[in-house]
Amino acid sequence: MARVTAGVATSHVPAIGAALDNGRATEPYWKPLFAGYEFSKQWIARQKPDLVVLIYNDHASAFSLDIVPTFAIGCADSFQPADEGWGPRPVPVVQGYPEFAAHIAQSVIQQDFDLTIINRMDVDHGLTVPMSLMFGQPDRWPVRVIPLAVNVVLFPPPSGRRCFELGKAIRRAVGTFDADLNVQVWGTGGMSHQLHGPRAGFINKEWDNRWLDRLIEDPEEIARIPHIEYLREAGSEAVELVMWLIMRGALDARVRTAHRFYHVPASNTALGHVILENTT
Ligand code: DHB
Ligand code: FE
Repeated sequence: MARVTAGVATSHVPAIGAALDNGRATEPYWKPLFAGYEFSKQWIARQKPDLVVLIYNDHASAFSLDIVPTFAIGCADSFQPADEGWGPRPVPVVQGYPEFAAHIAQSVIQQDFDLTIINRMDVDHGLTVPMSLMFGQPDRWPVRVIPLAVNVVLFPPPSGRRCFELGKAIRRAVGTFDADLNVQVWGTGGMSHQLHGPRAGFINKEWDNRWLDRLIEDPEEIARIPHIEYLREAGSEAVELVMWLIMRGALDARVRTAHRFYHVPASNTALGHVILENTT
């Protein structure tokens, strides 16, 4: 059977993609940020996952205000990098896994989660920036990806509790797919994050780090945090962090922290990154 071996969480700031794509990763502003992923690139080269279930949010690239699914699973063969206004990023096409995605859709929907089935979509920085951070700049991505898009852009986003439970359902789905595959679940977005208005650029390092501590040690507790706390304590777009709870729900109650990194600034947000391993 397939098994979830580890979870990765990382911010997905679009300027990181632009820095890489334009050869600026060694500049003083960016160097310390990319240094936080050196371990990660070596770790993933050793882990060699067959599949990443990549939890991210679309930023009005694939979905417009016409249709806003709360949870949407990408069942296509492949996903093109989206044009977010400057042309598509020069990164490889993302290879999907239609049979496995269909299995997850069937299993998770029958566990009472409503997923929207997506048979064609482009993927934006929410998905491609984490791929670049973890894999660098290869000619082809070395892993298949099932994108799972979560609406955290338009009110109302799903609760942390629902996201945590969805992660558990995804783990059960993975564990019933009849193939010997090493699967990782990634959560992206966050951390402190206020992109507009008078509080633009608001950062709360203390809250972010306490949230990370609890993500690792006591996810049940942070699953109870209401949206308003994310907004108040870490900015309006910090609500992207509920996606990390899907990753965490797909792991054991107790996990091994392989890596943890926090860096400010990344554009006008805080960047967080953890790698958590299942031990069972
Ligand atoms: C920015 C956008 C994002 O989607 C994000 O998650 C972080 C930062 C930005 O525009 O700076
Ligand atoms: Fe975002």
